[in-house]
Amino acid sequence: MAGVTRGGTIIGWGAALPDRVRTNADLEAHLATTDAWIRERTGIRERRVGSSTTDLAVDAGRAALARAGVDPASVGMVLVATCSPDQALPATAAHVQRALGTGGGALDVNGACAGFVYALVCAFGLVATGVERILVIGAETMTRLVDDTDRTTAILFGDGGGAVVVEAVDGPGALLGTDLGCDGSGAHLLACEVGGTMVMDGREVFRRAVRATVRSAGAALDRAGLRPDDVDVLVPHQANARILDAACERLGIASARAVSTLEHSGNTSAASIPLTLCHAAATGRLHPGDRVLFVGFGAGMSWASAVVRWDAPAAAAMHAGDPWATMSAGIPSSDEDRTGGDT
Ligand code: UT7
Repeated sequence: MAGVTRGGTIIGWGAALPDRVRTNADLEAHLATTDAWIRERTGIRERRVGSSTTDLAVDAGRAALARAGVDPASVGMVLVATCSPDQALPATAAHVQRALGTGGGALDVNGACAGFVYALVCAFGLVATGVERILVIGAETMTRLVDDTDRTTAILFGDGGGAVVVEAVDGPGALLGTDLGCDGSGAHLLACEVGGTMVMDGREVFRRAVRATVRSAGAALDRAGLRPDDVDVLVPHQANARILDAACERLGIASARAVSTLEHSGNTSAASIPLTLCHAAATGRLHPGDRVLFVGFGAGMSWASAVVRWDAPAAAAMHAGDPWATMSAGIPSSDEDRTGGDT
């Protein structure tokens, strides 16, 4: 980006998902809902449930460091994006520091579903101040925040974690454009008291989510000097398939370029974007030089977009330990869908 004296790039990524699957049929058993309604209105079939935010953050962070081949002690900062920490104090990042033996600072970021992109942009900013390596994690146990009897939220959310390692490079680096924003007048639309459960005005959140996604992604692309058609891979927050479709259509980005994991993981808030990035990498959708657009939105209402050039070598195929390898089949997993969207 213009004016940046030292940049960064993503050198590692990793995901963590609890083993337990909660299907729509499981929800039908105690909620006035149906599998057909959930699939049609949200695109979700199942979500992962369980573990703790700390364990998911540690597992995702460990996987990202291993993928990067980085000594944890050489990490200069851990940023954990979460709105569902296990404890109010200390930060989840402190537990990650201890478990992984990272060096430098450790800090949580609460930007709700936009939190991971907020933290990612902060990581690139820290590189500019002299930090060599930053572990950026999004980890959530959202199912602990939902009221199991509320069919508008209980059907949406799942648990998981994802992480990337950002490393300093010579020159301007891989961050091409950003947009961060918040409109606190919408704070009541999606909220959770400490110790309480989530309340959400789904229709209004939906409306604002589409608008924020389109405006924010467009602003980040403008700052990067790119057009929607220049986006090779869109890694959006996974909230609702209809939000993704509407945003793609209004942005003018072929929906085949958007990576979707929603069907199998539900909305995992700050974890959804790094989890989806890991899925894109594990299924061969990311190539060196690709322009990847990240866009998140959520409680606040807050939103965050970042355009990042993918500098890592073409990702290895999914390996046995990859949590996505344990997911049900059915997620698009090749370049076919990208070329299909180019017409
Ligand atoms: O990360 C950001 C977090 N949140 C979001 O992104 C959520 C954004 N909002 C949404 O995804 C959608 O608004 C929902 C999935 C929450 C709801 O879908 P919708 O199409 O907006 O439904 P609606 O609220 O307009 O409700 C339509 C009908 C209503 O019945 P009536 O009034 O038409 O008789 C609801 O009571 O569907 C009913 N309904 C359900 N029916 C079966 C609401 N939830 C359910 C349900 N199963 N789970």
